[in-house]
Amino acid sequence: MQVTISASKNFPIGHIDEKLYGAFAEHLGRMIYGGIYDPGHPEADEMGFRKDVLEMVRALKVPVIRYPGGNFVSGYEWEDGVGERSRRPRRLDLAWFSIEPNTIGIDEFQEWAKRAGSQVMLTVNLGTRGVADARNLIEYCNFPGGIKYSDMRRANGFPEPFGIRYWCLGNEMDGPWQICSKTAEEYGRLAAETGKVMKWVDPDIRLTVCGSSNSHMPTFGSWEETVLEHTYDIADYLSLHNYYGNPGNNTPEYLACSTDMDRFISTVAAICDTVKQKKGSDKTMYLSFDEWNVWFHSGEQDKRQEKWTVAPPLLEDRYNFEDALVVGCLLITLLRHADRVKMACLAQLVNVIAPIMTETGGRCWAQTIYYPFLHAANLARGDSLMTRVKCPNYAAGKYGNVPCIEAVVVDNGAANELVVLAVNRSLQEDAQLSLDIAGYGALTKAEHLVLTHPDLKAVNTADAPQIVIPTRLQTSPDTILPRQSWNVIRYRY
Ligand code: AHR
Repeated sequence: MQVTISASKNFPIGHIDEKLYGAFAEHLGRMIYGGIYDPGHPEADEMGFRKDVLEMVRALKVPVIRYPGGNFVSGYEWEDGVGERSRRPRRLDLAWFSIEPNTIGIDEFQEWAKRAGSQVMLTVNLGTRGVADARNLIEYCNFPGGIKYSDMRRANGFPEPFGIRYWCLGNEMDGPWQICSKTAEEYGRLAAETGKVMKWVDPDIRLTVCGSSNSHMPTFGSWEETVLEHTYDIADYLSLHNYYGNPGNNTPEYLACSTDMDRFISTVAAICDTVKQKKGSDKTMYLSFDEWNVWFHSGEQDKRQEKWTVAPPLLEDRYNFEDALVVGCLLITLLRHADRVKMACLAQLVNVIAPIMTETGGRCWAQTIYYPFLHAANLARGDSLMTRVKCPNYAAGKYGNVPCIEAVVVDNGAANELVVLAVNRSLQEDAQLSLDIAGYGALTKAEHLVLTHPDLKAVNTADAPQIVIPTRLQTSPDTILPRQSWNVIRYRY
């Protein structure tokens, strides 16, 4: 098939905020314990953090990591996780029916994030807790000293404030699974007052309020509207969450699920603009897609969870090649909305629905989905350009007829490069690529990275970590996007 990708320097969508390549680390399963922290491991550093895992995280260039939840945060008492370790209590974690040992808390996690080259985005507990706790926490993290909680931090060995800039006001508060879920009215009021007080303590922070837990929630739409009516003035971002899967093994339909993400983003942006209009505000509400990924493989296994253990193996999805194609399409979709989506977090980072897997005490390896994220986060920087794709459509089940090629063009001005990211969703046909690019003069192809595999269900494992890995195609004048493939093509200008 023939595909023409068109873009012009004169039609940028928007600057790609580096926080589009954020991630998420929850106290859940083996994300923290056995994932990033494994003090008995030969690769552990002096704080017990695995250096091999850190290296894999650093390669992803993740600028911001949302922490400590997720559902976990709605029952979390952060004071349990600071101070002398021998005095930290073990607690029931009612979000994941596990035991939280509190060996790692905010103090240690922000140290780990520094080593990973990232900043922490903290979520406050608006489930079992509220304004007073959020105020105390921000004092602990960001106030220099001389009052109770800042002095507690100093006594714990951190004389300098952590300076945490990004904060989330609760997590998925519309979900019945959430500890102390709320109506939109209840949450909107609580978030508005909490955010107001937090900004009084530190006016430089940026706040995200909870949108719906996903686009299929019964209150989707009205939730956003009500919450924003209460919080428009104090909020800087509204959150979106969505996970995708292929439980019915319908690959053509599954590969088109970015259509859903695209509609979801457009709908939420329209709701934000409606509230903006009603309020006569001149502030544009940005979107933070702070949980997105594929999540469905581990469902059956998780039903057999042994309750009330520390770090049980939960949500350990083993990602296959087609999942990597979907993650590629989702990344392209986020980039196509770079004007509104100013933050996004791949959920999660290690072991729990994660690009990186570990054996506790043993090996670590990259899952298939690691690679599209690695490529986009390293190469798709700068400005996203309005991109038109002319190619055949295919029948994608509930999504109708969708283009075989999902693509976006990025102008990486700092490197004098145009970067084309493209997924060929056709399971049958290679695509011959023509570019129709205006405003950049002559382009020279510098590199074509491709991730493809004949078996859509192929996975990487600890024993065979290189089954699905990217290759570099010979740069020839012709560019072929192989059937079922993720491609990143860099052109110099
Ligand atoms: O990422 C796993 C869980 O998914 C999070 O804890 C929650 O916010 C979402 O439902």
